[in-house]
Amino acid sequence: MKDNSAQIDEIRSLMGSGRLAYVRSFGCQLNVSDGEKIKGLLMQMGFGFTDDEHKADIIILNTCAVRESAEDRVFGIVGSMKKLKEQKPSLIIGVAGCMTAQSHIAEKIKRSYPQVDIVLGTSALSALPGLLLDVLHGRGFSADISEYDDFSQAAVQVRESSFKASVPIMFGCNNFCTYCIVPYVRGRERSRRPEDIISEVRQLAADGYKEIMLLGQNVNSYGNDFGDGEGISFPELIRRINDIEGDFIIRFMSSHPKDASRELIDAIFDCEKAAKHLHLPVQSGSSEVLRRMNRRYTAERYMETVDYIRSRDPDFSLTTDIIVGFPNETEEEFGETLDMIKKVKYDNIYSFIYSKRSGTRAAGFEDAVSDEEKSRRMRRLLEVQREISTEHYKRFVGRTLRVLADGVSRKRPGYLTGKSNEAIIVEFPGNEELIGSFAGVRVTGSMNWAVTGEII
Ligand code: 5AD
Ligand code: SF4
Repeated sequence: MKDNSAQIDEIRSLMGSGRLAYVRSFGCQLNVSDGEKIKGLLMQMGFGFTDDEHKADIIILNTCAVRESAEDRVFGIVGSMKKLKEQKPSLIIGVAGCMTAQSHIAEKIKRSYPQVDIVLGTSALSALPGLLLDVLHGRGFSADISEYDDFSQAAVQVRESSFKASVPIMFGCNNFCTYCIVPYVRGRERSRRPEDIISEVRQLAADGYKEIMLLGQNVNSYGNDFGDGEGISFPELIRRINDIEGDFIIRFMSSHPKDASRELIDAIFDCEKAAKHLHLPVQSGSSEVLRRMNRRYTAERYMETVDYIRSRDPDFSLTTDIIVGFPNETEEEFGETLDMIKKVKYDNIYSFIYSKRSGTRAAGFEDAVSDEEKSRRMRRLLEVQREISTEHYKRFVGRTLRVLADGVSRKRPGYLTGKSNEAIIVEFPGNEELIGSFAGVRVTGSMNWAVTGEII
């Protein structure tokens, strides 16, 4: 970790008060969490925040690399910022996040986008004050994509919510699914020390946070990188967090099915604070496609895990990620995915059309399936899932759910929206003052994307 306190003080005195920062995070929740740390550093340097890039003195784009289309979008945004910089030459523009971990991208930014002053790697957040000082001292373009942050310690953060908090428990991924860029841009798995995580959660609980979301690319392999006899497993971490005093719910993502053990499922059932919901990305219902994806489980083994969960609670809520149109996916293989979602009865699926990502193994796979066919399969998948959700949500009618109210309904005036323990969206009439607290809601009706009810 860089000791940047002297640099932070110098920036405070150089920049004075009233300066504004615009930070925009793309992609997954881990990236949003990094964005909160970047904001934490900027706050220490004396910046306030704005959602209007025209008012900003510094702009940081915290980028995602999962899809090449997302990268193109960022280049488009950076391109359009040239004008902003011409209007306000003192404006400082930085690019952070997963895109910067690819050296050809960092070089492209330096070569083709002179309006960018700073490139900041995901494991070098503490370098931000030093990079900013270089720019303020007129030393020009300044980049740091080294890896030296002590990721275990809690950083100062400006959190997006006052009642929902993300807590990364590990960084990186060892799995190398053939379609995925993450292991290349986030490196190998590194787990935070349990005592650092627990003290962060204890503080959040004391501050009144109601939802603690534990984050990692594969939380089930938490602790595997500790030496023998050191550290603890993920199920044990859940149990220890469950023992922390306070009224909060524990969620986590993502769980790799190959590592979703009975110990994990037992911990979810044993711990009263653990949400009764599991996000278990299946990606495909075909064992052959799973093999080509290098997922290291079969459809049958996945179903064994689901069966064990449902043997303990037939109504248990499951959600998943699905990739449609993986290279050379046949109609039969796609049919197996449809069979899988019908059998499992997910409450929700997050589906993606396969997107070729250079740098990954699947980018070299032959693919005879047309884009039209992939879109057709996607529509079919969503259609089938809509029927499943509509039917499956009916099981909640008449039951009382514990719901964390998190906002006002955009569709229905006077209604609040919230998430139940089971991760179901619930809409109910209520006062805005309830936002950020738990309510008991009796479910009176269901739709295909949410249930409705009234506070009891
Ligand atoms: N194409 C389509 N979907 C992808 N995902 C990751 N990489 C790709 C890709 N190249 C999806 C997976 C993962 C989710 C976060 O994003 O379903 O679980
Ligand atoms: Fe990507 Fe697979 Fe790692 Fe998830 S488990 S981040 S899909 S490589």
